[in-house]
Formats: sequence, C-alpha cells, structure tokens
Amino acid sequence: MKILITGSNGLLGQKIVKRCIKHNIPFIATSKGPNRNPECPESNYFRLDLLQTDEVEQLVVDQMPTAIIHTAALTNVDYCEEHPEECHQVNVVSSKVLYDAAKGVNAHFELLSTDFVFDGENGPYKEEDQVNPLSVYARSKVDAENLLLEDPDNYQNWSIARTIIVYGTGFGLSRSNMMLWALEALPKGELMKLVDDQFRAPTWADDLAYGCVEIVKRNQTGIFHLCGPVSRPINQIVEEVGKALKLSNLRIETISSKTLNQAAKRPPRTGFDLSKAEKLLDYHPMDIQETIPLLQKDLIHYH
Ligand SMILES: NC(=O)c1ccc[n+]([C@@H]2O[C@H](COP(=O)([O-])OP(=O)(O)OC[C@H]3O[C@@H](n4cnc5c(N)ncnc54)[C@H](OP(=O)(O)O)[C@@H]3O)[C@@H](O)[C@H]2O)c1
Repeated sequence: MKILITGSNGLLGQKIVKRCIKHNIPFIATSKGPNRNPECPESNYFRLDLLQTDEVEQLVVDQMPTAIIHTAALTNVDYCEEHPEECHQVNVVSSKVLYDAAKGVNAHFELLSTDFVFDGENGPYKEEDQVNPLSVYARSKVDAENLLLEDPDNYQNWSIARTIIVYGTGFGLSRSNMMLWALEALPKGELMKLVDDQFRAPTWADDLAYGCVEIVKRNQTGIFHLCGPVSRPINQIVEEVGKALKLSNLRIETISSKTLNQAAKRPPRTGFDLSKAEKLLDYHPMDIQETIPLLQKDLIHYH
C-alpha cells in the first residue's frame, strides 16, 4: 500500500498524514503551498498545484501510489459562490485529472465530499439518497462525484467519503472552525450569535482520517457517510462545547439563517445515517464531550 494524499496542509490532510506515520503506512503528501506540517518529513512531501495538469500526471506516474486520497479543494462555501469558475477548476477539473491519473496506474481513488450535496429537507441522509445541491460549492462536489458515479469506463476502484463540519486543529491551517471559535469565545464570555435552524453532525478530524484510511485498507468502494455521531442545531453544538468546558451562563443568542445574508445557501438539516460505515469500517466517532479535552491538548501541541 502507498497512499498519495492531496491537501496535506489542510486539516484533514494533516490528520491522514499523522495516521499514516503512526501506522507505518507508506505515503506521499502533496499540497499547493510549501509543507506547513513539521511532522511530515520533507522527503515525503511534494509541492503540487492541482491545476498544473502535467505535473499531477507526472507525479502519479513517478510515485505509482496504490491509492489517492483527494482532500484538496476550495472549501470556503461563500468564496466559491462568488468565484464559480475557480471553484469548478479546483473542485471538478482537478478531480478529473487526478482520477484519470489514478485509473492510469490502477490506483484506488477516494474523493472527499460533503453533506451540502443534499438540500437539507430530509436529513439525516443515507448514502443512496438523492442529491440536490443548493450552492456553487455543493454543485462542484456533485459534479466531482459524478465523474466516478457516471464514469463511461465503469472503473470500479473508487470511493466517495462525504463528511460534515470538520473540526480540530493542526499546523498553520488557513482557516478556523466552529469549535475553535467556541473554545476561544466562550471562556471570555463573548457573545456568540448562532443559528438554531441549521442541524449538523460535526466531525472530529481524527475520526474522519480513520474512516478515510480504513476505506483504503479494507479495499472498500462506493459512497461512505462519515460524520460525528449526533446531529444538532448549531446553537446546541456550541452549548455542548460550553458543557465540556464546565462553563455556566453562556452568552449565546440564537438567530435565524435568514439574518446572516451569506452568499451561499445552506441546507437546513443534514446529518448522516452512519450504519454503513459502522458495519464496514468499524467507524465509531466520538461526540463533543469526548473530543473537546483532546482538542484542548492539541491546541497546546500545535501552537
Ligand atoms: N472542513 C469542513 O467542514 C468540510 C465539510 C465537508 C466536506 N469537507 C471536504 O473535506 C475535504 C478536506 O477539508 P479540509 O477542511 O481539510 O480542507 P482545508 O483545511 O481547507 O484544506 C484544503 C487544502 O486544499 C489545498 N488546495 C487548495 N487548492 C489547491 C490546489 N489548486 N492545488 C493543490 N492543493 C490545493 C490547500 O493547500 P495549501 O494549504 O497548501 O494551499 C489546503 O491545504 C475537502 O475536500 C472539503 O471539501 C470539508
């Protein structure tokens, strides 16, 4: 086994690198910028802009991975809404280049996708439920998924790992996440304005990395739903963080999504049915009360 990871500077990418190191799995880490993860040896790292098609094809042929875990993407949903062409290039076109390269060397191709492929009217969702993307970002992920699902060559050696609000910390991450924000704001007594009409099952990044690597190790194919164990409204997710910190008198004001004026439309109620991942991957993710102490430890380790 030899895994090529894209987006290795990102939150999930760093956790997959960590898992590969811990379990002695041979890997190649790639990302657009210089390596920002000091725990990833430079000898394993290749700087790779996925929009440089020739370089992508060459690296895959040179390295001959047995699997590619494709975490890299434009992940800022509102940015994608305002930059649809760039979003399409990074999230769809580069996925096709990588997928074709994987096929060329007979490697497994694992695509990271999102709960936003659904419209959020009927969550929690099973893998086979009908998609209905509401935003440019969501559409780009559906289009990338369809490269595999509707492949005219009928190549079977692929998987899609869909996930929901990934949280955790790492080295030099380019963006924050809801739990980091809550950990910072709640103890200071800062007012947090949170929507109560969007339900999500946030995912501890280490649990997600476990699921992503396990798909490859167990030679699984097809779609997998990988998220946290409980879907709650966003305000209650943050209240759980407050409980884990043993804080009383949280300053949380609930608001409606309509008042946010975000560029991209969000699905109201997602969450996944995890039965398939539990059965085939032994995926048993942790809930917020368990992960917050781990996140606090990580904040010391990574900063
Ligand atoms: N985070 C979430 O809440 C969430 C929810 C649902 C689904 N997902 C999906 O899960 C995956 C991983 O998410 P994440 O939170 O780990 O992402 P992230 O932290 O935003 O990292 C994304 C990585 O993609 C890399 N990248 C962007 N453009 C690139 C390009 N042109 N060439 C090469 N690399 C490029 C960046 O590399 P550099 O840093 O080197 O520039 C970055 O490290 C993504 O596919 C995302 O769509 C995430």
